[in-house]
Amino acid sequence: MVAALTLQEKVALVTGQGMAFPGLPEDMQAPAVGSIENKVEGAAGATVAVPRLGIPSLVLADGPAGVRISPTRKDAPGRSFHATGFPIGTALASSWDRSLVQQVGAAIGDEAAAYGIDVMLTPAQNIHRYPLGGRNYEYYAEDPVVSGQIAAALVKGLQERGVGASMKHYAVNNHEWNRSTINVKVDERALREIYLKGFEITAREGQPWTVMSSYNKLNGPYTSESHWLLTDVLRAQWGYQGVVMTDWFGGHDAVAQMQAGNELLMPGTGKQRKAIVAAVEGGELDPAILDRNVTRVLELVLRSRAFKQLPHSDQPDLKASAVLSRTAGAQGMVLLKNEGGALPLPAAARLALLGHGSYEMIAGGTGSGDVNKAYIVGLPQGLGKAGFSNADGLEARYARYISQQKAKLPKTEWYLPQQRIPELELAPAQLQRLAAEQDVAVVTIGRGSGEFVDRSTEGDFSLTAGERQLLQQTADAFHARGKKLVVVLNIGGVIETASWGALADAILLAWQPGQEAGDAIADVLSGAVNPSGKLTDTFALQLSDYPASKGFPGKELLGPDPDAPSPFGIRTAREAEVSYDDGIWVGYRHFDTHKVAVAYPFGFGLSYTTFDYDGLTVDASSEGRVRASVRITNTGPTAGREVAQVYVSAPHGALQKPAQELRAFGKTDLLQPGQSQVLQFEIDARDLASFDSSRGRWVADPGSYSLRVGASSRDIRVQQAFEKEQESEYAP
Ligand code: BGC
Repeated sequence: MVAALTLQEKVALVTGQGMAFPGLPEDMQAPAVGSIENKVEGAAGATVAVPRLGIPSLVLADGPAGVRISPTRKDAPGRSFHATGFPIGTALASSWDRSLVQQVGAAIGDEAAAYGIDVMLTPAQNIHRYPLGGRNYEYYAEDPVVSGQIAAALVKGLQERGVGASMKHYAVNNHEWNRSTINVKVDERALREIYLKGFEITAREGQPWTVMSSYNKLNGPYTSESHWLLTDVLRAQWGYQGVVMTDWFGGHDAVAQMQAGNELLMPGTGKQRKAIVAAVEGGELDPAILDRNVTRVLELVLRSRAFKQLPHSDQPDLKASAVLSRTAGAQGMVLLKNEGGALPLPAAARLALLGHGSYEMIAGGTGSGDVNKAYIVGLPQGLGKAGFSNADGLEARYARYISQQKAKLPKTEWYLPQQRIPELELAPAQLQRLAAEQDVAVVTIGRGSGEFVDRSTEGDFSLTAGERQLLQQTADAFHARGKKLVVVLNIGGVIETASWGALADAILLAWQPGQEAGDAIADVLSGAVNPSGKLTDTFALQLSDYPASKGFPGKELLGPDPDAPSPFGIRTAREAEVSYDDGIWVGYRHFDTHKVAVAYPFGFGLSYTTFDYDGLTVDASSEGRVRASVRITNTGPTAGREVAQVYVSAPHGALQKPAQELRAFGKTDLLQPGQSQVLQFEIDARDLASFDSSRGRWVADPGSYSLRVGASSRDIRVQQAFEKEQESEYAP
């Protein structure tokens, strides 16, 4: 096939198409080639077809929370093309449930297939290095093991439906500020252990059909131009065999991208095509490299639904997906606090639903990780169906207030997070009346975030003054009558909780739980679902406790033209750099090792029941593997599920080691009161090692290791030592 292609056709195959619109600079236009324009309206892009050889065009669509396409089509007036909004990545990961996430992947795969999409641009799995990262909501965790395994499960689900995945953004795209130009400087140990490890797990376990390189530079070159990252590490060391595509308009030098092993340039521009043709003709690009890249793109084509000419209905089973989205939403919620049995709510309780967040559920984040869903279930609706009532007139009052306030906001583009409106101020007398008449107050704090911009500290990581006042006054009024205050956090990333947490009797971290939000939250508040999610991030006492706060997001290196226009007018793309001086001390590795007090530790989450851990067995006798098992018993009154985490403390050799590191995890089935389940874990001996940059190798020191199984990183229930007699060394 490659031999039959002309140079022009080869170049067309390695540069995509589909993005062309007024206002986009000439050299960035990527108009459709041939007849596929708008094959699937609103999809992110497509590859180019070569009809004379039967090579079809593949359609690529975002993204992590579901299929992002246009809900309407010019050629189908009156019809809708909605997709299901699933919970955000962080919420999915907080379920710690690989099988559930695989089901979500399969459901997204089914919808993609129904809409004629070949590759889904998900999972997004950069590490949560710092809470202010604008796209943390799409990503999974501060830890690479949970991140990598959850991503691998999503990939498996998608690909078992014949739709390709794209693990992104490879690598170190941990924040949005100057993302298209920033040089991230990070030492190799931190890179291997923290920032690449999750991708390694996903690549090895999930075998995604595609990888998306990131926008940023890594220790010098753009990731999309880094032969080391894309060829030496990804292919030679990890055995990856799929296609690497750029992020949209990512990188700079198309020829360097071809050489590095970035086979597909998306969305593909005329400028790139010209550059590649000229480089082949001028002898700067070895034609064999172009052929290699074309071959890999063709291998992807051969796997695709388009090549197999599979029909698509344009009618996905949205009802089935909605049920799964609701389940996943509830499974990802984390109960942070529950004093005096505040939750589950008493049956048929009369509620005072407060805070404008209670009337404006945030299903997910903005930007390419958004989904055009048909609806979002509101909290009053969800709670109403679950048998709870709200104070008379409150919903109407908030609705009026919200629409008045929104009318005053400056217009925000659809792809940017909406500005939040201030809290409605309620007079203390009104709150007292509500406290007299209603049984429980529920206050929802909402936060949106999304692509292109990082979050801010004031009024985003921290509460606004209005939110604090609402919490304080509600707590005063309800507590004065011996009634409870429940806080629901409808947020996409970590916020500050330490300064106000004491006001609440219960705090439910609902995340952004997808389109079924109100029902999923009601499921947990009512006790229909016993919460079993656990944190995949540490909630620190304050932002400055995260080591990355020093120097975040980086510094601009004002070059010759600091005001050069950026592609969409919103993405600042000035030369900048950031140094990850925190090294491996990300998340609990820092907090646990340096004994820093936290609001909620990594892995933490309460349940309406209690669990005992016992019967730990550890078998380190076989080469290459450590096996462990633990029995978990539901010792409380309610059926529930428990997430158990396996941490390993390693002896100190030449390298400094974190106090412990997550090496495995498991989740029980729904255990009835008194019921037990034995969870089994396997740790590859290689995963006991740390990366010794001076040797360029993974090294596991000899000595005494401790395997610690816990309900959170700060709640280790059982542990056992095992010995390793000799040092082991592994090639990267
Ligand atoms: C985002 C990617 C996305 C792509 C296509 C980019 O702006 O960074 O995550 O897949 O657009 O929409």
